[in-house]
Amino acid sequence: MTRVRSALRLVFERLEGLLDLAFPPAWNPLYHLGGLGFFFYWIVAVSGIYLYLFFDTGVTAAYGSVEYLTHDQWYAGGVMRSLHRYASDAMVVVMVLHLFREISLDRYRGPRWFTWVTGVPILLLVIASGITGYWLVWDKLAQYVAVVSTEWLDQLPIFGQSIARNFLAPDALDDRFFTLMVFMHIVLPLLLLLVLWIHLQRVSRPKINPARGLAVGTFLTMLALSIVKPAQSQGPADLGAVPAVVGLDWFYLGFYPLLERWPGPATWGLAGALTLILVMLPWLPPLRRAPVAVVDLANCNGCTRCAADCPYNAITMMPRTDGRPFAREAVVNPSLCVSCGICAGACPTSMPFRRASALVPGIDLPGLSMALLRERLDRAAAGLTAGPRIMVLGCEHGVAVEGARGLKVAAQSLACIGQLPPAFIDYVLSRDLADGVLLTGCAEGVCMHRFGIAWTEARLAGQRDPHLRSRVPRERLMTVWLARHQATDLAHAVAEFGQRLEGLAGPKVERRSPPPATAELREAGHG
Ligand code: HEM
Ligand code: SF4
Ligand code: SF4
Repeated sequence: MTRVRSALRLVFERLEGLLDLAFPPAWNPLYHLGGLGFFFYWIVAVSGIYLYLFFDTGVTAAYGSVEYLTHDQWYAGGVMRSLHRYASDAMVVVMVLHLFREISLDRYRGPRWFTWVTGVPILLLVIASGITGYWLVWDKLAQYVAVVSTEWLDQLPIFGQSIARNFLAPDALDDRFFTLMVFMHIVLPLLLLLVLWIHLQRVSRPKINPARGLAVGTFLTMLALSIVKPAQSQGPADLGAVPAVVGLDWFYLGFYPLLERWPGPATWGLAGALTLILVMLPWLPPLRRAPVAVVDLANCNGCTRCAADCPYNAITMMPRTDGRPFAREAVVNPSLCVSCGICAGACPTSMPFRRASALVPGIDLPGLSMALLRERLDRAAAGLTAGPRIMVLGCEHGVAVEGARGLKVAAQSLACIGQLPPAFIDYVLSRDLADGVLLTGCAEGVCMHRFGIAWTEARLAGQRDPHLRSRVPRERLMTVWLARHQATDLAHAVAEFGQRLEGLAGPKVERRSPPPATAELREAGHG
């Protein structure tokens, strides 16, 4: 499975790179697949409501009402029908890409199993909703879908009598069965919305909307396609004849030729096995989990920053239990924690300037505690024998920083770059451990822990606490977000940074800094 993931990651990295050439980074569709899924859902819902206003739910009149929408009312109903069709197709595309991308990023195992497993019914509901939709047009394709689907369902010994018999003769199909299909086509998407809501229960601040520019561009493209190539029916259904050649919608009905040709037990077995594998994927094999974040109440003042920054809703602020004069305390739910360390990076007590005995923050990762991090930085810096000296701090999911080590370069990897409290940058420069600090992490838009890069950038820019103090000279700091395979780019960045540092004079840290933290907050617009 590791090889499959690596191969998929390579494919996605290439695709992401290609799309980065065509889109501004914030608009790259591959970084917004979940949000695009929701966007298409809303287009389908709104256009569906419009179509329903004119749709005749009787089996004899359904086809005519869709024809009326398509031709007589092409400027509104026709466009709505096409938008409904194309947005539904696009939803399948982004959903499948989203599924494979989460695998490629290894974001489906461990505590993420819940989001993954709830994704499986979403997949089934999207496909089932699409199939019932094709049925309603009651053209030749609908007839084909109806016959093949019901013959397939008849293979299951759960229905008292054959449902396929409804489609064998023109007088066999009654309005009631057709109305049931209309009902299903409304209920299944509503159920889908409910499961989508459940899907995101363990994701903090989910991106349920794509970037605005991307949304507008996508909608306009779809509108243009709807006008240039409107969705059409394939001639009225005729139960007196078997529909021979039908144009399939491969996004929803691509597997229908298989259902038609293979015996029922084989296709039911295959569908069951594939669903089971999909559900079990987070445990094939399970993620070996690092020790989760631990709260030290003696150092927690209940400031809530860790809970605000945790990307997985793993921290809850609870009423104080130790009698100290604070209203709340942080409590970690071990079954939700993925050990990313972002909480430790957010905690105001993660202060490297404290004495060794005191460097126990309110929240910490036992695998790489703040005390251990400081010890490693001290040790790594002591090994630098030539200048300008650079401290590279990276993340275990981005480009491997260890390869950059040398006489002038020390490197340390963290669970996520968001684990780094900005005070550590101040510490490295003011204690003269290095002449410059280079931060790296996963490539832009693919952060393993979702907010590692966003929070780091906001902390450095003074937009999020804890922020980098203004006394730290920004020219001695460089950030470069790189994927695993971009080791050469890291080497180039280090060389370029070295040259820049060579040309710099003056102190690494401005000594006349405003010492109280409140002054810093005011300066950054927080006070
Ligand atoms: C149209 C269908 C779907 C929509 C609209 C959707 C939407 C989303 C959204 C908005 C997120 C949060 C992304 C973020 O903010 O970073 C998400 C996360 C996720 N989705 Fe889906 N999803 C869909 C289908 C699926 C399917 C079929 C699967 C897999 C079977 C799946 C697996 C996941 C996983 C594993 C995550 C968690 C990523 C993480 O924790 O970082 N999704 N989805
Ligand atoms: S380590 Fe990460 S997932 Fe765990 S509590 Fe901290 S921020 Fe949340
Ligand atoms: S960030 Fe630190 S001090 Fe603030 S609530 Fe979390 S553990 Fe406590």
